[in-house]
Amino acid sequence: MKVRKGVFLVAGLGTRTLPAAKTIPKVMLPLADKPAIQYVVEEAVAAGIEQVILVTAAGNQAVEDYFDTAYRLEETLAARGKEKELAELRALKEMAAVIGVRQHEPLGTGDAVRTARSVVGDEPFAVFLPDDVIDGQPPAIRQLIDVHETYGGEVVAVMPVPREHVDRYGIVEGAEVAAGVRRLRSLIEKPPVGQAPTNLAIVGRYVFTPAIFDYIDRIPTGAGGEIQITDAIDALAQEGEVYSSEFTGTRYDMGDKVGYLSASMDLALKRPDLRPGLVKYLRSLDLDRLDSPS
Ligand code: UTP
Repeated sequence: MKVRKGVFLVAGLGTRTLPAAKTIPKVMLPLADKPAIQYVVEEAVAAGIEQVILVTAAGNQAVEDYFDTAYRLEETLAARGKEKELAELRALKEMAAVIGVRQHEPLGTGDAVRTARSVVGDEPFAVFLPDDVIDGQPPAIRQLIDVHETYGGEVVAVMPVPREHVDRYGIVEGAEVAAGVRRLRSLIEKPPVGQAPTNLAIVGRYVFTPAIFDYIDRIPTGAGGEIQITDAIDALAQEGEVYSSEFTGTRYDMGDKVGYLSASMDLALKRPDLRPGLVKYLRSLDLDRLDSPS
């Protein structure tokens, strides 16, 4: 069955992105001139996703509003003949059908996925943690959907990380069945350095079958007092088929301040309209001076 629905988890507290995330949801922070969530929705749409399900929390309506009609703004742009801007805003709403569901408390990624259960129904679906922005061609989620269409089951995105950083990620272990594809035996959230079975870290893209919901219901509260999606996938891997896909593309972590700044710079440098001015500015920097403390 075709993967048509994408669940986007944006209900977290964003504590690593404070103070900005106090009033601006982390995924609404701009990378160049577009909020991060737009890049992730564009990735989904390019991969064939037709329905965007946003899991939001009280206080982050800005994410839903971004994909909705901005009536006053659109009227004003039309009255002033600003056709280009108007077309841009309309294209944004027409990208995909958007549905919002609420997670009432930030109880973890597993709990957030569960809130979308009735909207997902009985079909495979994609999950996006949009604070991971991935610049990839083909889109990262498309690479996962291809693995799902070949092998069935659940698929998680992974990338190699330095061994000394494994305790920051969920780590997978399994046997390779094709280049970059593993059938997983186990997934472990943030293992201590030295105890991780591999250095393959889970990144925020998944393809699930509805089977995942029963496993979310079954698992106990895990790391950080939250219901972790990694624990549910691990439980499922003991009884069913879970694959990892080592995607190609560059992943940026919006939850990390340097990751956020790097994403903004790299994505702006890819834009023909922004690149010349930015390159000029970068060339003007005295890099030797930057080596000394500010
Ligand atoms: P993170 O744990 O990385 O993000 O969750 P966070 O909780 O927002 O941020 P920090 O760690 O406090 O800085 C990954 C993604 O899952 C969503 C987050 O919004 C983020 O996009 N999430 C997390 C939820 O939707 N609900 C939750 O209960 C937890």
